[in-house]
Amino acid sequence: MLSKQDNELITNTDPGTPMGDLFRRFWLPVALSSELPGPDCVPTRIKVLGEQLIAFRDSQGNPGLVDAFCPHRGAPMFFARNEENGLRCVYHGWKFDVTGKCTDLPNAPEGETFKNKVEIKCYPSVDAGDLIWAYMGPKDKQPPFPEFPWTKLPANHRHLAKFRLECNYLQAMEGDYDPSHAPFLHSTFLPPTPLQQQAQGTYYRSPDNRGVGNSNPDEQYPKVVGDRRVTDKRAQQFGKLFDDEAAMLSVRFQDQPDGKVSASVGVTWWMPLFCTAGNALPGHLSSNMRVPIDNESMMFYRLRWSWEPMTEDMVQEYKHGGWTHPEMIPGTWKTRDNVFNDYNVDRLAQRNFSYTGIKTFPLQDIAMMENQWGPIADREQEHLTSSDYMIIKVRRRLLKAARDLQNGIEPTEPWHPEIYRMHRETAVAATPEQAFEEATRKAKTDLLAEFEAQTVTV
Ligand code: FES
Ligand SMILES: [Fe+2]
Repeated sequence: MLSKQDNELITNTDPGTPMGDLFRRFWLPVALSSELPGPDCVPTRIKVLGEQLIAFRDSQGNPGLVDAFCPHRGAPMFFARNEENGLRCVYHGWKFDVTGKCTDLPNAPEGETFKNKVEIKCYPSVDAGDLIWAYMGPKDKQPPFPEFPWTKLPANHRHLAKFRLECNYLQAMEGDYDPSHAPFLHSTFLPPTPLQQQAQGTYYRSPDNRGVGNSNPDEQYPKVVGDRRVTDKRAQQFGKLFDDEAAMLSVRFQDQPDGKVSASVGVTWWMPLFCTAGNALPGHLSSNMRVPIDNESMMFYRLRWSWEPMTEDMVQEYKHGGWTHPEMIPGTWKTRDNVFNDYNVDRLAQRNFSYTGIKTFPLQDIAMMENQWGPIADREQEHLTSSDYMIIKVRRRLLKAARDLQNGIEPTEPWHPEIYRMHRETAVAATPEQAFEEATRKAKTDLLAEFEAQTVTV
């Protein structure tokens, strides 16, 4: 649980709040690059961290992110003309470039000099990995760009989707590093037979559908719990956590037959909102980014990526397979099954085939996330258990970083962009400490450099 005050502190990312200030020390995704299709494209509305903004591209194709309201008399920049390297307010013609500078002020004789005194609020933005990213903090604290390898790979190595959720970022993010939920929420009652796969369509489509058997003879209602029950033995498989600059590492140790020990080291979460969990096609990696729109809604960027190019079949499976990605309402960022229709839960399927009766993997999560005591979970009412250990650790870390910043202690994490390169690696050694150290060293090796070297050789 959290106190009322801590819950308010950790969930409120509005401008001028402690958590809002902390988030504004990091580069965050704010739109898909495809929302700004080319030079001088139509401007689009964006709301991030409680701020209303307008995104556009100038005549060179550079992205710009400016206040949604003109500094003259507050007219909506959404209706602005995007012309010759700038956005011109249609009310009285003031024009601004992608740096926020006023380049023309034609409605008054003093315009030629007065324009030098006027700026529109503007945030630095870049295109990377099919996303527009923004830095919304103080100019003198702007950090280097995080070195996620997938931002540097060719576009056919990624599949990126975006959905709007009606809840606070934190409860959605916490679902990613919640190790005991998947055998319940995401499971089917039995591994599917080929016939069931055909018959049950989306409930059984994935090779990773986590069917859980019912082999526990003492279980009175095996379909309800069965082998899902977390015992001491299974709890030992939960990872141990270590902080490493911007990353929270999850480490699994395993004794080897020869007396040595192996350590598998990977990142579960990077400051402040980057997660690696989630189901994907074999060989693919996940990145889930949940960016607050405001405190009661957020944008979910769901990325699947690979060191190998994705085939058209894989992309089609993501888009239309009905398992890893939900169907959308065309022209919106809303899923067809959503909070307003109870995700079209199928109670017959729930009784007989799947644990939830909700189709598609992420919607099973979203149905929980959007309804945890409402859009901002009241964590004062929680009763956490040992399986919530990652959730507790991330909260502590975010709260500490936000409090430190209020006390003038800047976060160091944004200044370690190389940590965002990390991947999972395993090492075997005589002691757990040595295995951990070696696996961590390997997990920090630069696979992108290796990829680029190979590409050049070919
Ligand atoms: S309000 Fe934009 S130019 Fe006047
Ligand atoms: Fe989940």
